[in-house]
Amino acid sequence: MRQLILAAIVALAACSPPAPSSPTSSTAPDAGEAQALAAALQAKVAALPKPYDGADYEAGRRAFGQCRSCHSIDADAPSRGTGPNLHGIIGRKIGAEADFEYSQAAASADFTWDAANLDQWLTSPQAFLPGNRMSFVGVRNEKQRRDLIAYLMVASAEPKE
Ligand code: HEC
Repeated sequence: MRQLILAAIVALAACSPPAPSSPTSSTAPDAGEAQALAAALQAKVAALPKPYDGADYEAGRRAFGQCRSCHSIDADAPSRGTGPNLHGIIGRKIGAEADFEYSQAAASADFTWDAANLDQWLTSPQAFLPGNRMSFVGVRNEKQRRDLIAYLMVASAEPKE
């Protein structure tokens, strides 16, 4: 019996992964860095006005997956043919990206994007601004909209997503 246990221990030791070698010149951020970045972004969400301070940045980032095929949010990214770049969207006038051809409805509207009108726009783009060209049905789930808007408030002010 004792021998069997010893054999098992030896076998286990043989299977254990090699000790981690010291980091080489890898360019990928390690897990610790990624975690620190996620925590820093979530802290920015916590500093937002209510009710966005209670939002989940990571859930908002995932919800932005519905927008990504048409929109980029990075500072130096051009607008896609499918949708204007959303960098700095909070505090920006509607229809202001010079490299995007907006619909007449968006080009002639005159207001500045904030959390409140984004919430209406994202609930139902067509109800909020009839005649606009964003073919997107809207986000009906209130929590998902809150996470998404908090994500937009933080990520659209970061240089890169
Ligand atoms: C199928 C492509 C498509 C999808 C998906 C889409 N959009 Fe759009 N979006 C557009 C287009 C096109 C416009 C410009 C509308 C116009 O000119 O009438 C626009 C405009 C906007 C604007 C106004 C931009 C400005 O410069 O005034 C915001 C904000 C916006 N979209 C947010 C979102 C968000 C957030 C999502 C995801 C929940 C999303 N969009 C999903 C195509 C899309």
